[in-house]
Amino acid sequence: MLHNDRDAALRERARRVVPGGMWGHMNAANLPDGYPQFFARAQGCRLWDVDGNEYVDFMCSWGPVVLGHHHPEVEEAARRQEALGDCMNGPGEAMVELAEIMVDTVAHADWVQFQKNGTDATTVCVTVARAGTGRRKVLVARGSYHGAVPWCTPSLAGVTAEDRAHIIQFEYNDLASLQAAADQAGDDLAAIIVTAFRHDVGRDQELPAPAFARRARELCDRAGAALIVDDVRAGFRLHLGGSWEKVGVRPDLSAWSKSIANGHALAAVTGTDRFRDAVTQVFSTGSFWCSSVSMAAAVATLNVLRREDAPARMERTGQMLREGLEALSHRHGIPIRQTGPVQMPMVLFEDDPGYRKGSAFCSAALRAGVYFHPRHNMFLSVAHTEADIGRALEAAEAGFAAVKKARGSAPGPR
Ligand SMILES: Cc1ncc(COP(=O)(O)O)c(C=O)c1O
Repeated sequence: MLHNDRDAALRERARRVVPGGMWGHMNAANLPDGYPQFFARAQGCRLWDVDGNEYVDFMCSWGPVVLGHHHPEVEEAARRQEALGDCMNGPGEAMVELAEIMVDTVAHADWVQFQKNGTDATTVCVTVARAGTGRRKVLVARGSYHGAVPWCTPSLAGVTAEDRAHIIQFEYNDLASLQAAADQAGDDLAAIIVTAFRHDVGRDQELPAPAFARRARELCDRAGAALIVDDVRAGFRLHLGGSWEKVGVRPDLSAWSKSIANGHALAAVTGTDRFRDAVTQVFSTGSFWCSSVSMAAAVATLNVLRREDAPARMERTGQMLREGLEALSHRHGIPIRQTGPVQMPMVLFEDDPGYRKGSAFCSAALRAGVYFHPRHNMFLSVAHTEADIGRALEAAEAGFAAVKKARGSAPGPR
């Protein structure tokens, strides 16, 4: 049984002074029974909530923690920079060092500019594409998440029709709908923006079909538009050179954030020389965008990612988890669908309206000490070992048993 007294007390206090108690996707009200809202500390792939319950973490802070929480090399680099200065009148040496490493690591990158959040980076990409082409229309896949500002937020509260006037939607991986959207944009096409793969919440993930990726590139080339890959969620987990290296298609602009500083707040846009002038014309800035601590943390993160061949390591443990869950699903006779890259697992139950099975599974796994998510893609980190995957599979065993029990006790058809 999980303790939750402190969590309950903090929720009560928060409700009075924070509307809804918590905003956005991290509101624990959106999670199954028993999930904590507040956390006390984290180390490696372990996470402790404010009541002292310990979990093996398969959300990794919703992506940023790629090397494991509180990675010693990253934290040492951050501490060293903190002792010197963080938020100064301009950037420190770390910015140049980081830019050099990113240009050296990311295949399409001739230059890089830094921001704070993924939304900053995707918005800068779209603005730079418009500035560089002198056009307005941007093609966006229906259901893809690119951030929480009016041009792309999934909620329409506070958004005007004018905010979306030049956004045209298409279906991810659907060549005909991509072509139709490009036709609609005509000679006003500024950009096509695509996530690294289809990782929309609550549905099966899809890798980009090579023909789809190639067509997106061709349409941009023919129209003189920019191909933007939003690598905010997948960046550095699939391929250090950029996720679309795997399909052999290079973007003009890419948005990065989450994993680049292993949990320190940082985002980046990388681009080709074609957009070098445009990015200098756009007025991009933010009070904290050149803070040095997160940049020093990112230099250390990239050095470790490169040294440890991080994507391959996460692929190995992710594959173990996928095979283990598949075997358990067969043994319990409870079918699941596992989709997308193994480093970013999505596990959905067959015939599961309202994610009731997924929620029962996750609540039971949580009680057994493993933090899964019932309908969002999860994240592996370099810190997950084979023993941690073993622990996850033990918790999954409890999860499948709970689904079976809930099925047995559910009222049958009349
Ligand atoms: C693909 C993608 N793009 C953009 C964003 C926005 O990033 P942020 O929440 O840091 O603004 C996210 C966040 O989850 C994302 O997954």
